[in-house]
Amino acid sequence: MDETGNDAGSGKSGKVGNALPYNTGINAAGRFISFEGIDRSGKSTQAALLAAALGERAMLVREPGGTSLAERIRAMLKDPTIPMTDRAEALLFAAARADLVERVIKPAITDGKIVIADRYVDSSFAYQGAARGLGREHIHRLNDWATDGLMPDLTLLIEIDPERAVERGAEIDDRFEAEGLRFQRAIAEAYDELATGDPNRIQRIDGDREPENVAEDVALHVAALIGEGAFA
Ligand code: TYD
Repeated sequence: MDETGNDAGSGKSGKVGNALPYNTGINAAGRFISFEGIDRSGKSTQAALLAAALGERAMLVREPGGTSLAERIRAMLKDPTIPMTDRAEALLFAAARADLVERVIKPAITDGKIVIADRYVDSSFAYQGAARGLGREHIHRLNDWATDGLMPDLTLLIEIDPERAVERGAEIDDRFEAEGLRFQRAIAEAYDELATGDPNRIQRIDGDREPENVAEDVALHVAALIGEGAFA
């Protein structure tokens, strides 16, 4: 295990005895849930709350990150002083993801865990594909290969108006937040299109509320996937 605590470890297996259909393609009791949203949508808070509510069955990962390699890549991606082309950026996100999927996410799903990812491929569709303008098809091919086709069973899109998200303040701490409101609007629009195109996997949640109210909706969607009993 590395300093992030997310490299594949021994982790106790918590079996979820529920045979609902899922699309990770891994024949195991585990499940895979991702959180998406624009910067400051509150999705990281929600991902952490869900992980806490699910207890030891849950494994929380954040993207980019979660392995020693991916954390290094994260530092490069977030550093505003490192100039980077858009394609290089997309490839670095995909490289970090490939390492995380193979070494952490897939073993955990196989082990029966409920993996909760704070961002996954939809972030690349929205940020690199749409906002950076690289196009959906290229991002799809790149990520399909990087993840060997692994998709979440459920994606929770925490929606908030970009203007409202900016009002939530906090310092600009990376290259993406520094891009400003227009960039965030493009991302929000892309998420909207993704959710419309894949209504079974992507569930929209109104993020412009108190965290505990948002968490209630999150719990409803997760219970529909894995059963009430998962919230011990
Ligand atoms: P982070 O501080 O983790 O932001 P957040 O809490 O909003 O997730 O920084 C990650 C940044 O990287 C965030 O601005 C979104 C961006 N990103 C992409 O552009 N593409 C991706 O595939 C991923 C996973 C993140």
